[in-house]
Amino acid sequence: MAVEQTFAMVKPDGVRRGLTGTIIARLEAKGFTIKAMKLMRISRELAERHYGEHQGKPFFEGLVSFITSGPVVAMVVEGENAILEWRKMMGATNPKDAAPGTIRGDLATTIDENVVHGSDAPATAEREIGIFFDPGELV
Ligand code: CDP
Ligand code: MG
Repeated sequence: MAVEQTFAMVKPDGVRRGLTGTIIARLEAKGFTIKAMKLMRISRELAERHYGEHQGKPFFEGLVSFITSGPVVAMVVEGENAILEWRKMMGATNPKDAAPGTIRGDLATTIDENVVHGSDAPATAEREIGIFFDPGELV
């Protein structure tokens, strides 16, 4: 166990549906700390970089157009085992498989609009934090 930082995001559907506060409340209630946060529009270039691992997959174009379709709330979240714990709080990628009590299980119905993002491993967290934030933006 160790204190970790992860990259978390409320996706455009979550912001549009007014779920930002609910999602922040859940991670604060868990005991996590927000180290950086911004409301922003993701450019096509940033989207392709962030989701680079999915380039060439059938859902890639739809994913890029969705993630650039409206503002997102990007965050650096810190806490004990934050990377895995935030993934557990998000639930399975496909809301159909996400357990009740998870964000996707409670708040989403389809895989393409599944409300939240979270880094899936320590190296991913470091990479994603680095592409969304300058070190000076972290408190
Ligand atoms: O977001 P997560 O890490 O749980 O899943 P991923 O496998 O890294 O996929 C990234 C995102 O692509 C998902 O959260 C979905 O929004 C989207 N996706 C999709 O639209 N259709 C799929 N068949 C798989 C993923
Ligand atoms: Mg992923």
